Amino acid sequence: MTLKNFRYEVPTAIEFGSGYINTLANHVKQLNGTKVLIVGDPGVLQAGIISKLEAPLKLAGIPFVIFTEVGMEATIESVDLGVDFARRENCNLVVGVGGGSALDTAKSIGIMLKHPGTIRDYIGIDLVPGPGVPVIAVPTTAGTGSELTRFAVLSDKKAQAKLSVGSMYVCPVLALCDPELTLTLPAHLTAATGMDALTHAMESYVNKATQPISETLSLQSMKLIAKSLRLAVVQGENLDARSDMLLASSIAAMAFNTTRLGLAHALAMPLGAHFKIPHGVVNAILLPEVMKFNLIGNMEKYKEIAKIFGENVDGLSDREAAESAVKAVRQLNKDIGITQTLSDYGVEEGHLDFIVEEAMLSGNVPVNPVKPTLEDFKNICRAVMVVSKKEAVFA
Ligand SMILES: [Fe+2]
Repeated sequence: MTLKNFRYEVPTAIEFGSGYINTLANHVKQLNGTKVLIVGDPGVLQAGIISKLEAPLKLAGIPFVIFTEVGMEATIESVDLGVDFARRENCNLVVGVGGGSALDTAKSIGIMLKHPGTIRDYIGIDLVPGPGVPVIAVPTTAGTGSELTRFAVLSDKKAQAKLSVGSMYVCPVLALCDPELTLTLPAHLTAATGMDALTHAMESYVNKATQPISETLSLQSMKLIAKSLRLAVVQGENLDARSDMLLASSIAAMAFNTTRLGLAHALAMPLGAHFKIPHGVVNAILLPEVMKFNLIGNMEKYKEIAKIFGENVDGLSDREAAESAVKAVRQLNKDIGITQTLSDYGVEEGHLDFIVEEAMLSGNVPVNPVKPTLEDFKNICRAVMVVSKKEAVFA
């Protein structure tokens, strides 16, 4: 355990339990919401999840409007549309429901309902001058942890870049976590989002900004993922596994919210923005190679990770034990059907210069346990660029 001076803060309240979506109206009332903007993506609308939010609001007589112009990624354009709509409708509380894109859109709209200008004015770290209107975040995937984080990641379609609004004021006031809402998530999305959660827990755990509280959270998150990710993928209806994964995702977010992440996320941003690789998938592809690169920066922690994932480290040297953690994560990827490479998404050697230059600018680089060069970044990418002929089992 790392002992040092630190600060830890989670401003978001957490309500966690099966069927908790039915308590939504009580929370809206407590927060003095008189007109609600529900922000969701078309996927949650089609899956009938938005109607599960409508029911308690209707019952309580709380007026609401619905905004579903959210794509696979949260975009600045979508936030602008949502803000115009919410201002016209005089909404004073936002409920975000869905995966990371819907929640990041909801968080951004919440800020803009209290502050002038556009969301572009607040891109960066700590540029939001104060709280927005209350935002309740209802996650339907177990991965991004956006229901608890101080970041809203937004794509700028024109610039083909992923930008971040980072401020404690971006945190929702309440994370309403109902694992029943994740039961219908398809296997390939369960796998990808679960690997995003694992990458959060692990990158926070081994990085240089880790501290006693975040370490404890990371450890617990990884234990839950080791126990339940495979089950959640192959038995979608398994509520215990779904519950473990939603908890793991939220706990991992509580860890990285203060510590930031590492090289997988540094590379995931430009790769996601330029090649449209789903965020969880790109992290899953990169994670074993990033672990291999980072081993010597935190051997003890990687040995601990190996044990969490069921590797027998008895009689192994510290290095061998740490290396077995890489093997365990590769096996996990394989078991849950993530066999893609960067080449499957069109990434070629000629793209690496601009990818790694963008990755190097990430705030996740300075906290990584091993300082990378541009060439190191390229080598990590090259190692996962062999064209895969295998089909992903659940793709
Ligand atoms: Fe992530």
